[in-house]
Amino acid sequence: MGASATLSAEALDRRHVWHPFTQMQEYWAQPPLVIASGRGGWLTDTEGREYLDGNASIWTNVHGHNDPDLNAALQRQLGRIAHATMLGLTHEPGALLAAELADLAPEGLGRVFFSDNGAGAVEIALKMSFQYWQLAGKPEKRGAIGLAGGYHGDTFGTMAVGDSGFFHERFRAWGFAADHFPAPVCREWAGVVREADASASLAALEALLIEKAERIACLILEPSVQGAAGMRLQPPGFVAAVAALCRKHGVHLILDEVFVAFGRLGSMLVCTEEGVTPDFLCLAKGLTGGYLPLAATLAREEIFEAFLGTYESRRAFFHGHTFTGNPLAAAVALENIRKLRVLVADGTLTSRAACFGRLLDEAFAGHPHVGELRQRGLTAAIDLVSADGETYPEAARAGLQVCMRAREHGLLLRPLGDSLLLVPPLCLSEAELGELVSRTACAINDILPTFQYHAQRS
Ligand SMILES: Cc1ncc(COP(=O)(O)O)c(C=O)c1O
Repeated sequence: MGASATLSAEALDRRHVWHPFTQMQEYWAQPPLVIASGRGGWLTDTEGREYLDGNASIWTNVHGHNDPDLNAALQRQLGRIAHATMLGLTHEPGALLAAELADLAPEGLGRVFFSDNGAGAVEIALKMSFQYWQLAGKPEKRGAIGLAGGYHGDTFGTMAVGDSGFFHERFRAWGFAADHFPAPVCREWAGVVREADASASLAALEALLIEKAERIACLILEPSVQGAAGMRLQPPGFVAAVAALCRKHGVHLILDEVFVAFGRLGSMLVCTEEGVTPDFLCLAKGLTGGYLPLAATLAREEIFEAFLGTYESRRAFFHGHTFTGNPLAAAVALENIRKLRVLVADGTLTSRAACFGRLLDEAFAGHPHVGELRQRGLTAAIDLVSADGETYPEAARAGLQVCMRAREHGLLLRPLGDSLLLVPPLCLSEAELGELVSRTACAINDILPTFQYHAQRS
């Protein structure tokens, strides 16, 4: 055993781990939290303290941690084989899952390419679109369009089509140039649309397409809710209107449902709900119920057919990952989807979302420290402001302070600046949703009425 066996997980973490999307200097200033186990919507740390998993382990968890059915599916597959490549071979869980996804998707979107994370799924859709236009004899169609505020991952292609401000600014020089169109305006919670206007957004998109469609391969959109932008919502009908413009101007539509699919908004897939058949559909996060890394890019059959030819025609799609379509992940995804179909069909998720909306409305509509509330399905954002309605200085880290206090109330949240993003595991009961909302309110009420900002040294 190495020397490290004598050190605690906290000490080893501090010495060796570089955490994602984290200012490590700030991370070290907080007491470390080491998760030991989970059950349902709850996580337990090594000290035995329990926390409600208020961000569903980064927006992935569906049926809860340690779900007996998902565990059993994983163990069954483990008894057969943990991994076999899909490069030139296949296996039963992978083939079954591809068929299942094709069945969930709109008619014609039947070809499934597996990868292992959301950025990968988007990168693959972009490359497929770019290659398709070359194969179709239109190599000049090379550009891409994204929506303002979009987030599709942190690889170079996904950063190029995304618009995540300082997250990606540093790397701009190494990406390709993409166009962006303004996001629509939409505020909604508790099932009531309070403000909605897509006219300027759609007019700008149409103008962009009229000018550039001959040189544009694809448009990418997170349909209905832009999660990482802070749960920015789109008005009803927006996705269909964007799809119609793409079709009219001969531009592929990529729907990035990495966040919104698999029950988060109450349906299995947002595109079917919106009556839209995209050219490509990207799935990840909830695909395995939050158990294992797996992603999928679905493509229209006609697009797939353009890639067929002899080996030396070089029409094949030269892209792949070592763990593409991993059988353990595929087996868990199949069980996740089987269980989720029931919850979608019997209205459980719709009524949970309605309950979540009501609870948020009661706790935060008109709250002196809530500038704006947005909620759709089982996802919400609460923008924090001072009592006179001002935003806090960035360095005050008001959102982080509230999240650290939430931990003391047994709730784990991760802020996005001064927005609190509430993304519960879909399995939370109405009582647990009540806990999520009331513990969030306690943390806000503990911190913000007396919040003092002291400048910190960088
Ligand atoms: C809409 C969307 N697309 C893509 C991604 C990237 O997924 P991953 O972190 O698995 O690469 C995310 C992650 O939050 C996302 O929300």
